[in-house]
Amino acid sequence: MAKRIDVSGLNAYYGSFRAIEDISMTVEPRTVTAFIGPSGCGKSTFLRTLNRMHEVTPGGRVEGKVMLDDEDLYGAGVDPVSVRREVGMVFQRPNPFPTMSIYDNVAAGLKLVGGKKKSEMDDVVEKSLKGANLWNEVKDRLGKPGSGLSGGQQQRLCIARAIAVEPNVLLMDEPCSALDPISTLAIEDLIGELKERFTIVIVTHNMQQAARVSDRTAFFNLAAVGQPGKLIEIDDTERIFSNPSVQATEDYISGRFG
Ligand SMILES: Nc1ncnc2c1ncn2[C@@H]1O[C@H](COP(=O)(O)OP(=O)(O)OP(=O)(O)O)[C@@H](O)[C@H]1O
Ligand SMILES: [Mg+2]
Repeated sequence: MAKRIDVSGLNAYYGSFRAIEDISMTVEPRTVTAFIGPSGCGKSTFLRTLNRMHEVTPGGRVEGKVMLDDEDLYGAGVDPVSVRREVGMVFQRPNPFPTMSIYDNVAAGLKLVGGKKKSEMDDVVEKSLKGANLWNEVKDRLGKPGSGLSGGQQQRLCIARAIAVEPNVLLMDEPCSALDPISTLAIEDLIGELKERFTIVIVTHNMQQAARVSDRTAFFNLAAVGQPGKLIEIDDTERIFSNPSVQATEDYISGRFG
């Protein structure tokens, strides 16, 4: 099958510190891939190399190759801003623009691109909020600030904002860690729906969540603090949770460390 994402020989640094070492993996279109592994093993760092966010950190540097379909994301002349439009991101803490209305939060990315009429904008906002399963809860208060929503609603607002620009890939870094169990299940259901249109990569510390939402699971680990994180194995989620190839994976998922 065609690969949506194809990473080879990827290293990422903060100054002279190498945070992740020699990562290679592929991700197929319209699948959910979960990244699991102990704190500090480089899951967030790696995720941010997939949409050129890593280099925004001072000292942040990447070596290696990330292909998105036929495009080399680190190729000469590639505009990081357009990469971030193609590869959207949802963060651990819901981060709606606090002074902006619900409507403007969803429309923010589109306004940057420009060229949409008000009626077109209205359609995209409605479609995105429906896509994020938030429309019914907010349709009567689109002009109110996004910060006035509950945590779970804010996270769905951030998902609506991310999908409004029609990315190919959606990266989610522990999107449920600040949410209650009901909102968490709502987001998990939503991930199941979104994968029909998007390719999703999600970092999670919740093993049940990884098992519930993902098709593929990648386990990362580090030999010791100060050592770079490595990809230990990636396989079908069912296999990772029933019969992983590497002992360290088994130990991690059964809670023996991490
Ligand atoms: N801005 C930064 N400057 C310097 N080092 C950093 C920075 N961000 C992360 N690191 C280091 O890079 C390594 C990987 O961090 P990263 O945040 O990617 O891990 P993680 O797997 O996402 O951890 P967690 O599960 O706790 O979120 C760690 O050693 C961390 O201290
Ligand atoms: Mg992290």
